[in-house]
Amino acid sequence: MNIEWDADKYTKDFSFVHQYGNGVAELIDCEKGSSLIDLGCGNGVLTKALQEKGFRVTGMDSSRELLETARRNYPDISFIQADAADFSVEETVDAVFSNAVFHWIDREKQTDMLACVYKALKRKGQFVFEFGGHGNNALIHSALGEVFSEHGYEYKIPFYFPTIGEYAVLVEQAGFQVRYAVLFDRFTELKGSDGLKEWIHMFVKTPFATVDEMEEEEIICQAVERLRSVLYRECRWYADYVRIRMKAVKG
Ligand code: BEZ
Repeated sequence: MNIEWDADKYTKDFSFVHQYGNGVAELIDCEKGSSLIDLGCGNGVLTKALQEKGFRVTGMDSSRELLETARRNYPDISFIQADAADFSVEETVDAVFSNAVFHWIDREKQTDMLACVYKALKRKGQFVFEFGGHGNNALIHSALGEVFSEHGYEYKIPFYFPTIGEYAVLVEQAGFQVRYAVLFDRFTELKGSDGLKEWIHMFVKTPFATVDEMEEEEIICQAVERLRSVLYRECRWYADYVRIRMKAVKG
């Protein structure tokens, strides 16, 4: 999926994405000096955190806008523009890490992505990742679906949110041994008094491709009002995240 990112807004208002990523990084069990790829590194904040843990890390992302921010903020790190489902490396690495990226990759391309990761790793190399799992943002997408339908449009969730069983099978079919796998709820606080509206604007883009700007605003406001009773608590907005977290090893 090709998205044009507002890198500054993403960095300022959605910092929880990389803050939570620090927990995923703790699953990497490699010595200092090990080589690592941060796949879908975005603005590079987590890439920097991985470097500070002592790894020799390269950031990889398909977004020019996010990579510009990453390179500007962390000039001592190497960042490469590449598609996660179509990349190769000159030298294999000890680990591939990825946070909050794989739900952006269509189901049909997941196998290609897993094959690229497998090829990029040394034998016994570690593959550590987290992304949106089955049921992720179900309340948000269900409200959007209802409002789209009332406006005469069809709503299709523009993300891949697999069950843990489905994804573990794909990872194994790519040749990995799954060592750790968990699916968990993570009710996540959003920033600001318009947190949910901003979240929808930032992340839910393709369903609005054929909707004009005024109607888009109307749909979002109606969906947000519908969600107030479940996602607004003590003057704060939340998103109903569900995560898949895994660690796999190249056999
Ligand atoms: C996620 O991190 O789960 C996510 C973020 C934005 C849109 C969809 C999923």
